[in-house]
Order: sequence, then C-alpha cells, then structure tokens
Amino acid sequence: MTAIPPRWCCAATSADARMQKRYDPLTAREGQIRNGMKGARKLYVKSFGCQMNVYDSQRMADTLAPEGYVETATAEEADLIVLNTCHIREKAAEKVYSELGRLRRLKQAAAADGRSLLIAVAGCVAQAEGDEIIRRAPTVDLVVGSQNYHRLPDLVARAARGRRVVDTDFPLDDKFDHLAAPSRTATRARGVTAFVTVQEGCDKFCAFCVVPYTRGAESSRAAEKIVTEVERLADAGVREVTLIGQNVNAYHGTGADDRPWTLARLLERLAGVPGIARLRYTTSHPLDMDEDLIAAHHALPALMPQLHLPVQSGSDRILTAMNRRHSRSDYLDVVARLREARPDLALTSDFIVGFPGETEDDFAATLTLVEEVGYAGAFSFKYSPRPGTPGADMSHQLDEAEKSDRLQRLQRTIDRGQAKFNRACIGRTLSVLFERPGRHRGQIVGRSPYLQPVQIDAPPSLIGEIADVTITEVASNSLFGALASPFPSPRNGEVREGSEPGGSLTTPRTAVGGSTLPFPEREKIAGAGA
Ligand code: 5AD
Ligand code: SF4
Repeated sequence: MTAIPPRWCCAATSADARMQKRYDPLTAREGQIRNGMKGARKLYVKSFGCQMNVYDSQRMADTLAPEGYVETATAEEADLIVLNTCHIREKAAEKVYSELGRLRRLKQAAAADGRSLLIAVAGCVAQAEGDEIIRRAPTVDLVVGSQNYHRLPDLVARAARGRRVVDTDFPLDDKFDHLAAPSRTATRARGVTAFVTVQEGCDKFCAFCVVPYTRGAESSRAAEKIVTEVERLADAGVREVTLIGQNVNAYHGTGADDRPWTLARLLERLAGVPGIARLRYTTSHPLDMDEDLIAAHHALPALMPQLHLPVQSGSDRILTAMNRRHSRSDYLDVVARLREARPDLALTSDFIVGFPGETEDDFAATLTLVEEVGYAGAFSFKYSPRPGTPGADMSHQLDEAEKSDRLQRLQRTIDRGQAKFNRACIGRTLSVLFERPGRHRGQIVGRSPYLQPVQIDAPPSLIGEIADVTITEVASNSLFGALASPFPSPRNGEVREGSEPGGSLTTPRTAVGGSTLPFPEREKIAGAGA
C-alpha cells in the first residue's frame, strides 16, 4: 500500500490566485466592510482529535474571516458549520455520520426559519471518505480535505450557490502560503499559548496508523515562514508556542540560508524571538530524535523540560510487527541521552494494547517499560484495525475483552507513575505561565514547565505572565499552590534555582472541540501521530 499520491487539481488554480490576494490578515469586521457590509455570517467549527486539528480549525476561521464569517460557540445560530474530523481510530467515520444526523435536524430548523445553513466536513475523515460523504449524507454541502483549507472561501461560495462540492486533492503547492494569518484580535482571543504547524504527514508507515494515507507524505514548512508566524503571535501577546506535526522531529524545512534546517535549528531560532518565553514540540518519533535535538534540551532554556515520545509497545516482537523501526533498547537509549541532557525531563508516551499477535508476555514487557521509564503520564489505546493499514489484515487479532483487560491494567500502571510524579512536586517551586481564569472565582490556571495545570488564587491581571508558584497540594490532574514571591518574577519559563524537579510526570494536553482537556479524557481523544 502506498501513500495517496499528490495530484494537481486544475480547479484550484483560479481559487489559489484569489487566495494570494487575501493573504493579509483581515478581521471578520474588516471582511464585512470589504464584502459590502453584508452583515456578519456566523461560523461554528467543531474540532475532533489532536492539536493539529485545533490549529487547522483556527486557520479555517482565519481564512473565512475576510469573507465576513465571525466565529460563534453555538451551532444553533451558525450559517456555516464545519466538522473538522479525525480518522485515527475506529468508528471515526461513524461518529461523523451520526453527528451529521443531528446537524440535519438543525438545517431543517434553520430552513423553517427562512435561514440557510451550510454544512462542511473537513479533516481526515473528509480526506479518506471524499464523495462517499456526499452520497451518504445529503445534508452535507461541502467536503474539504486537510490540504485544501486555503480554498475554503471559494468552495463555500460555490456551495452557497447550491452546488455540492468535494475537494480532497493533494495540491502540489503549500497550503500555508495561502491560508490567511490570524488577525491580532483573533490571536489575542485565543490566549497566551499557541500551536504552530511546522510539518505535516508521515513517511514511517507504522502498521496500525492511517496518518501516512490521510495526511500524505512528510512535508515541512519553510523556516522563515514559521519564524514570521511566531513573531506575529509574539507581537499579539503569545508567550508559549508548541510546534506541531504528525512526526514533528522529522522536520527538515528550508532555512533562510536555503539549506534544510533541523527541528533543533528551528527551535534555536525561535528561542530568539522577543516575547516567546516557552517552546515545546509534539509529536515525535524516537528514530528522529537526533543529537542536535537532544542537545537543544540542554542548551535552550526556553525549551520546556517535557517531551511526548510515543513508544507504542515495550515488546521488540510487537515493535517489529508494528513496523516501528526501533527496538525497546533503542528507545531506552534515546530516553537516557535525553535525561543526560535535561535530567528533569518529564516524559509522556502513547501505547497501543492488543496489537495483532500480542501475547501476555509482550504485554508484560509494555508494563515493565512503563515502570522503567517512569513516565509523567501517557495516552493508551486499544488497538483498532484501520481499513487499508497492514495491521488490519494481520492474523491473530485479539478479542475486545482481552484488549479491555490489558488497557485497564496498563492505565493503572500509568496512573501510579503520574501520581508519583505529581506528588513529587509538593513543596517545590515551579514557574507557571498563567493562561486563563479558573473554574472558581478568584482563581487562575496556568501550566508548569512540565505541562501540568496549576491553579492558584490570584487576580486575572497575571494571565499572560510567568510567576513562581510553590506547590502545596496535588489533585488527580492539577497542582495547587501559591505565588512564591511577589510578582514579577523572571520572564523565562524555567524551574528556578533551589526548585530542583525530580521524578517524572506531566499531564499531556490534548484538545477536543477546541478546548483543553485534562489527562483522564485520554480514551476519548487522539494525539497527533508519531
Ligand atoms: N489503534 C489504536 N491506537 C492507534 N493510534 C494510532 N492508530 C491507532 C490504531 N489503529 C494511537 C497511537 C498514536 C496515537 C496518536 O493514536 O498510539 O501514537
Ligand atoms: Fe507516522 Fe506516528 Fe503514524 Fe507511525 S504512528 S505512521 S510515526 S504518524
């Protein structure tokens, strides 16, 4: 099986030319003026899956803002609903079809009100299912694949004229060249942390994974374009940037010197952008953890001491069957070198239980790996055969009961490690970037260098600031504490002198439906590959 080949779509040419003109970031208000004050049209984007989809959803909203579309949090009042779908595990397509059933009723209600409601399906399910969506779901007006979001204004206009549109080609041009940048207002509204896609697709072809087929071959954005995007974010008040990609550490974009830059080089450059205090990247493949990147964890104070490094299994036999191209000891070697570079590094991972042929001994090897690494947390999944991937055709598929039993046992082991890591933080002083008001009055929430949510009682004026917090209490997912010293504290995001981090832990952050969820939601969400 090969990756979906890139195809050139002639229909794209004129739309792309128009998109070039729209590159300057317009707010929705400016968009309305340009569009003759047609009045705001409301856009509701529902994101499924990983951070890459959340980022794409934001860029879709940015691209539609010049058309006069303003985002709304309520599907009922929308003129255009976009479902940005994820295909990584089983039943993804079925979930989308059942969501579309609900939207059909919304569309009928809008029509009864004399309003027209357009429904679009985007993302990996759109890419994989294409015309099938239009055939099965008459309510859908538009299907757009993950490489074609820059064409949305044109596609939406065609759908509004009553044509049902499908655009799932893999264009040869770089969609990022044509996607509108967010306005300052939109960036501010999204908070002080941001995701930036630097790489898409994957060439690794793990036997369980759909990413190489839905997102296509590995490709990297040019370094200077990323730098410009990060400078723009910093200018709007963003303090922390997470570079994202399905296999982010395979990054090899062209640099300002016309040579391919590694992720390490890119991180070094971004660490110099004024205003950016913290950098992270996700999701990485162990094989692409090169020496420079490992060294960057020592050399760059802005690079947070936290890394999501999926291993999937602790058994060499299963790693081979999965076509992971690394052994258990290769992985442990990378972990050891990383910890040498950054002793307090908090590691998290992804695991799959019940891959075809997994024996009790193979599974036991996964449990011992979890103990040996001492993870700060991890996502774990029951293997689900994805049609078209080699794993789906393998013999010795395990039954559901066996997979569920192993998943529970693995999660108990992971939870113990996470609790240990969190408990080790009590009494320590961690620097925290405050992101938003807390659930309770007078509370604000931020993130530690290890990505744990930290809650303190403090005024909202601290949002966007980095301050030292002494941790006094730990709940299942959050840390609680109090400001260690009168604000302001140093603006860099590191652990301070005398606050030596120990153990291992973290709370991986994964976004669903546009919101940031704590770790126990792990069964409902997917990470971004690798
Ligand atoms: N079944 C179960 N889990 C999967 N993942 C990817 N594909 C599958 C599958 N077919 C998990 C992997 C990956 C994460 C994003 O999702 O653990 O790292
Ligand atoms: Fe690529 Fe990760 Fe999927 Fe493997 S699991 S094919 S590395 S995206």
